[in-house]
Amino acid sequence: MTNELFPHQEGITTLLNQVLADEFVLYTKTLNAHWNCRGPNFYSVHKLLDEQYNDLQTVIDEVAERVRANNGIAVGSLKTFADTSRLTDPSGVVSTSDLLQDHEALIRHLREDIVTAGEDYENSATEDLLTSLLNRHLTMAWMLRSLK
Ligand SMILES: [Fe+2]
Repeated sequence: MTNELFPHQEGITTLLNQVLADEFVLYTKTLNAHWNCRGPNFYSVHKLLDEQYNDLQTVIDEVAERVRANNGIAVGSLKTFADTSRLTDPSGVVSTSDLLQDHEALIRHLREDIVTAGEDYENSATEDLLTSLLNRHLTMAWMLRSLK
């Protein structure tokens, strides 16, 4: 029954867990930047990053629960997130420019992942979720880009 109801289940699980790792690393980096930001616009940047890490927390939960809805196992390990993310996981202070670079990298990755989910895996539910993530990253990137 699982094969009929969940075609390409393995591929979809791998793809979504990859996105989950990317989003979790970016969530952590956004917290880092929220905590450590300084400068004349401190308060507004601090508040903006508060909103963004809350949005990313929602995104993370949606992606993980989509893995489960598609009959897969969601990764829930910090080490695995750091090891498999397509983003770097630096130990120092993260700037808003670093975050912008990461959102732009994720926008590129998501555009490819959307094609994979739709064309290779014929999974419109996942394609739709990834498209909503793409829109959220475009908005977050716009706001970070506008700080300059
Ligand atoms: Fe805070």
